[in-house]
Amino acid sequence: MRKRIVAAALALTMALGVGAIAGCSEQPQKEDVNAEVPPGAPPLMPPGHEGRFEQLGANGCYGCHGANDQANPMLTGSTALPEDHYQGKSSDSRELDPTHDQCITCHSQA
Ligand code: HEC
Ligand code: HEC
Repeated sequence: MRKRIVAAALALTMALGVGAIAGCSEQPQKEDVNAEVPPGAPPLMPPGHEGRFEQLGANGCYGCHGANDQANPMLTGSTALPEDHYQGKSSDSRELDPTHDQCITCHSQA
């Protein structure tokens, strides 16, 4: 009898544990913070971006979100910069347009 209770308790713990893990991994951060942002408006910087602009500057942002000869964006899983963020409105320039190098004036921290 005892054994069965222990087994049931164990099964319950495992079920809850799996639920908790699945619950977390099913929340894409991106959709959370930008769900209410209308199309065409600048998306918010997701949590985890706190202090990045201050520490890394626009070039730091570019290092993940920007284009190089191998990839656009350089970091797989980040979002590619819109073409209008680049000089000549083309990522082929590999340079940010000066009107777009103060990222945080448009992209607030979520
Ligand atoms: C270390 C790589 C890295 C750096 C540096 C970085 N980002 Fe990101 N950024 C990501 C990744 C990955 C995502 C998507 C995943 C997420 O939502 O966290 C993202 C998401 C975003 C989004 C949301 C895009 C969307 O369409 O939902 C914005 C806006 C953004 N970043 C802006 C910036 C700005 C501005 C900087 C510089 C201050 C910056 N990022 C620096 C990796 C980076
Ligand atoms: C003058 C305002 C402005 C500045 C400055 C600016 N952005 Fe944006 N950004 C926007 C707008 C508006 C959009 C949304 C464009 C759209 O949805 O068509 C956007 C979109 C983005 C996206 C998402 C692209 C996508 O497909 O979802 C990323 C990533 C991004 N910007 C990063 C940056 C980074 C990094 C910087 C600084 C180097 C920067 N932005 C500077 C206005 C700005």
